[in-house]
Amino acid sequence: MNPLMDKRIIVGVTGSIAAYKAGELVRELRKQGVAVKVVMTEAAQEFVRPLTFQVLSGNPVYTNLFRLEGQWEPEHISLAQWGELILIAPATANFISKLASGLADDLLSSLCLASQAPKLVSPAMNSGMWENEVLKLNCKRLRDFGFQFVGPGYGELASGEIGKGRFVEIREILGKLKEILYPKKDLLGKRILVTAGRTEEDLDPVRILTNRSSGRMGYSLAQVAEWRGGKVTLVSGPSNLSPPFGVKVQRVRTTEEMRKRALEAFKEADIVVMAAAVADFRSAEVPGEKLNRRRMSLNLESTPDILKEMGGKKNDKFLIGFALESGTNVERARKKLVEKNLDLIVLNDLTQEGAGFEVETNVVTLIWEDGRTEPLPKLPKLEVAERIWDRIVEALR
Ligand code: C5P
Repeated sequence: MNPLMDKRIIVGVTGSIAAYKAGELVRELRKQGVAVKVVMTEAAQEFVRPLTFQVLSGNPVYTNLFRLEGQWEPEHISLAQWGELILIAPATANFISKLASGLADDLLSSLCLASQAPKLVSPAMNSGMWENEVLKLNCKRLRDFGFQFVGPGYGELASGEIGKGRFVEIREILGKLKEILYPKKDLLGKRILVTAGRTEEDLDPVRILTNRSSGRMGYSLAQVAEWRGGKVTLVSGPSNLSPPFGVKVQRVRTTEEMRKRALEAFKEADIVVMAAAVADFRSAEVPGEKLNRRRMSLNLESTPDILKEMGGKKNDKFLIGFALESGTNVERARKKLVEKNLDLIVLNDLTQEGAGFEVETNVVTLIWEDGRTEPLPKLPKLEVAERIWDRIVEALR
């Protein structure tokens, strides 16, 4: 479920002022179930003592290429075999350039040269250094050799200046690691549109008509698709969730806004998942002023059915809808599948224990265009998303 669970990651810390932030990073990695070993360069030890990382990682910290403590095998070889990924964070300009030229004059650079594992570099430096042409060339060289990068970010630098060069937020690093370590890449090259969350319809300038969707199911579907290599656009109604890593997010509020954005992305999409809980009704006329509280009736009209409109121009796109029902009403969901010209509809039974808006789990039944139905057990929403994508990939084959 969590692509970081039980992974073995080597964190290489180099001599940037951001080295202190690597402590927090190691803590977060361990919280996610990662086994961490830290390797520090000599310059890094000028900023933070190895003891800090020893305590935070729960492992010895490796600093010296030339010391063999009670073992015959050099550490850059044994560590190279142990690590499933090497994360250089923070990476200085000096260290990046050293890697780019294949130097191996300390433990961390030797390890990078000896290891076949994927490598992720998270640079942190002054913006002048980051924009230097020689460094740019060295970063390009590393990319060409298969190194991946996350960051740097834009913002306040250690010098007080504002610019690019900041060590990125830890959640960005975790997002990138999950993307790299997710085992399946079976959506590579696929353009995917996911809608999620609720839409809101104004009753007057103050009040709205909406529903209780959190967006969690749709956000999980978007994140898993991105991990699996998809190029994902998420059109999201109001939601408190943080944007999934690597996904292009377009925020909307009303059904009409969602319709416009979703239809735009639809043109380019190979696969469309309409997981949004679109408001079914809107006020037929929205007054410019706040309604009198004694007014007890509303004149409502239906909102445009976005998915049905997509079904009308489906071509060879793969279309997935959601049906939220009070009860496992397969027939009603199947009717929607036919009416909207879908390949798959995911029936979401609100009356099941473990299904619903505020919970982390869901209980769904997959209903296919060819007549098959498949109930899934109660699972965390992220795992429901994984199962749904497994089935879609099978169907696309
Ligand atoms: O007809 P019903 O609202 O139950 O259908 C649910 C499916 O249709 C969902 O996939 C939902 O995102 C989509 N839908 C839509 N536009 C609407 C209402 C629902 O695209 N106005």
